[in-house]
Amino acid sequence: MTRSFLVDDDLTSAEQRAVLELAAELKVDRHARTPFAGPQSVAIIFDKPTLRTQVSFAVGIAELGGYPMAVDGTMAQIGTRESVADVARVIGRQVHAIVWRTYFQSDLEAMAQWSGVPVVNALTDDYHPCQALADLLTIAEHTGGLANSGPALAGRTFAYVGDGSNNMAHSYLLAGALAGMDVHIAAPADYQPRPDILARAQAIAAETGAALSVVEDPRLAVVGADAVATDTWVSMGQEEEQAAREAVFVPYQLDEDLLALAHPNAIAMHCLPAYRGKEIAAEVIDGPASVVWDEAENRLHVQKAVLTFLASA
Ligand code: NVA
Repeated sequence: MTRSFLVDDDLTSAEQRAVLELAAELKVDRHARTPFAGPQSVAIIFDKPTLRTQVSFAVGIAELGGYPMAVDGTMAQIGTRESVADVARVIGRQVHAIVWRTYFQSDLEAMAQWSGVPVVNALTDDYHPCQALADLLTIAEHTGGLANSGPALAGRTFAYVGDGSNNMAHSYLLAGALAGMDVHIAAPADYQPRPDILARAQAIAAETGAALSVVEDPRLAVVGADAVATDTWVSMGQEEEQAAREAVFVPYQLDEDLLALAHPNAIAMHCLPAYRGKEIAAEVIDGPASVVWDEAENRLHVQKAVLTFLASA
């Protein structure tokens, strides 16, 4: 069966670890796995804005010896001009893998179902699993490396403050649970994780030894954390809600006072783009604890590892 990476828990805990190990190898030697034996032509399709994701996939596919074909989603109009199933069958006969950023997770699933080639989630409304993997690699690099055996980040504590209902929060719960991390989410009552996703993450955590919590008070989530992350309060597609969201999220700003409650060596994380003075203070993102540029670079290495993994799965 063709394997895809549509959501964080499409990988087992052991597979996630293997992908992170491969990413670390590719970071040391960017051409360690070239020439690429896997998908030579990869369509990378964007229905929402992109910078990091398009650049890192295009560079990564080229470094693996493949050809990245960027498709402008506003031209393709997938799901409007043609059904997802029709598009999937057309491009699935021509490319070896598809990377897609779109709105609905169900559309991504249909793409995987009908294309017959590996499909990678480059962000949906519900999940951003490539960013979560990049962030796990970044946490490992700054907190003593991957665990010697078992779940990749056993023993580490991660906190996320802000919009608990968005793609990053959901991916952090699932990817963090697979990695064996303690994951603490702080979000306003109306912006907490989707209950079914939290339940899935709890079930994974019971297997890996992770501990998950969801609270409203950001200070409770951050105490003692090795890594503290936040994300925009207004995700792509939510622009009309901007004023209402900013009114609710002000107490969740990751500033120096909040970060001071974490472990003294804690790192500050943000998947970018960042809005200084909103979800993160300039002193934090531009300060000594910030690892945001490492996170951005690590997109490249983990995505190459995911594509290599899927090509041989
Ligand atoms: N939650 C953000 C992540 C951006 C990488 C969004 O979906 O816009």
